Amino acid sequence: MKRFCLLFLAACLPLASLRAQSDDALPILVQVLQSADDPQVQLDILKGLSDGLKGRRGVKAPAGWDAVATKLAQSPNPQVRELVQQLSLTFGSASALGDMRKQLLDAKLPPAQRLAALEALVGAKDATLAETLRQLLAEPALRGAALRGLASYDDPKTPPAILALLPTLDPAGKRDAFSTLASRGSFAKTLVGALVDGKFAAKELPADIVRQLRNYQQPEINAALDKHWGSARESSADIQKQTERYKAMLTAANAPKPDLAKGRAVFAKTCGQCHTLYGVGGKVGPELTGSNRADLDYLLHNILDPNAEIPNDYRTWNLDTKDDRSIAGVMARQDATTVTLVTPNETVTIARTDIARLKQSELSMMPEGLLQALPEEEVRNLIAYLRGKEQVKLPGEK
Ligand code: HEC
Repeated sequence: MKRFCLLFLAACLPLASLRAQSDDALPILVQVLQSADDPQVQLDILKGLSDGLKGRRGVKAPAGWDAVATKLAQSPNPQVRELVQQLSLTFGSASALGDMRKQLLDAKLPPAQRLAALEALVGAKDATLAETLRQLLAEPALRGAALRGLASYDDPKTPPAILALLPTLDPAGKRDAFSTLASRGSFAKTLVGALVDGKFAAKELPADIVRQLRNYQQPEINAALDKHWGSARESSADIQKQTERYKAMLTAANAPKPDLAKGRAVFAKTCGQCHTLYGVGGKVGPELTGSNRADLDYLLHNILDPNAEIPNDYRTWNLDTKDDRSIAGVMARQDATTVTLVTPNETVTIARTDIARLKQSELSMMPEGLLQALPEEEVRNLIAYLRGKEQVKLPGEK
């Protein structure tokens, strides 16, 4: 009878409520797991546990966990085995840590499994990981995750390693690289130094990264950005003028014919990390597919003046961790134990016990000055692409 009730409980409890429960619920869930033989039920409970504990580490293992972990390590279902290992890691198991490190370094394993191990180790703040992550920068399948993971470690060897790699990276890789280099005051100095030394072109730095750099309020950093990148902030009178100027330029009778394929490339570089259009892109800002895109006034108003009206969900949250990492993003979820932010690069969950400061700013996550940073021809192509009705091929795409 007891067994039946527990199974019934597991099947009926919505996962969201599993998540929201306090650590007191852990032993009960572990008991349910001990008696559940259906892999689907096991998976549901494990996912609930894993979601609920995301971002946390050093959580005391609930009573009975070791027995359950030993039993489920034999499961024929690979997802069950993976989740059990991740959870053991969250509960501070040394053997799970060793297993995960082995998986991460085993080049014969499928990349997805190695990625899961990498993310679990970053989540557990494995203290020895930074050196390994720098080595993994050489492996294309793991490079993005390694670049992002390095933001978690305050290690002075990281900025030079990333900067050396920068010229070889594709646009998504560059974004991850810049984002990690902007994520700590100590890294930011090296990044801005490289900008000043001409190690990369100023126009490669995305506007939201520049804003994050300015957020450190370091006079040398700001002076270097002013000189090499420019200052994008416009007064509202300027925005009025700019709108009229762009409108005249875009509607001129003798305007050259725009190239939609090139417009898509501009979108991918300048907007796509935050916005989804035709099923491609990020989730920081609103989905643009169904928006009022055909309307030029709507587009210009929203691009030139993103801070004119900002739905509360899209204000920037600035989070500083106790170990000096800074993260800027929109809030995806917060509860008593963790905070989850969506950034242009990733979704990050941080335990409240690791947070030094968390503050919602008055600004939209969408930077100002995006069009002003582009040559006229690119603006023309971008706007024509945005006003179109359907997806087009990228330049050179068959
Ligand atoms: C760093 C993230 C980011 C980037 C880059 C970005 N946006 Fe946004 N965008 C947002 C956010 C967040 C909002 C919602 C808040 C607001 O209106 O400011 C938004 C709002 C918009 C809106 C209004 C949508 C609506 O439903 O109200 C449009 C249109 C838009 N962006 C277009 C663009 C275009 C075009 C680009 C590239 C030139 C771009 N955005 C680049 C984050 C971004």
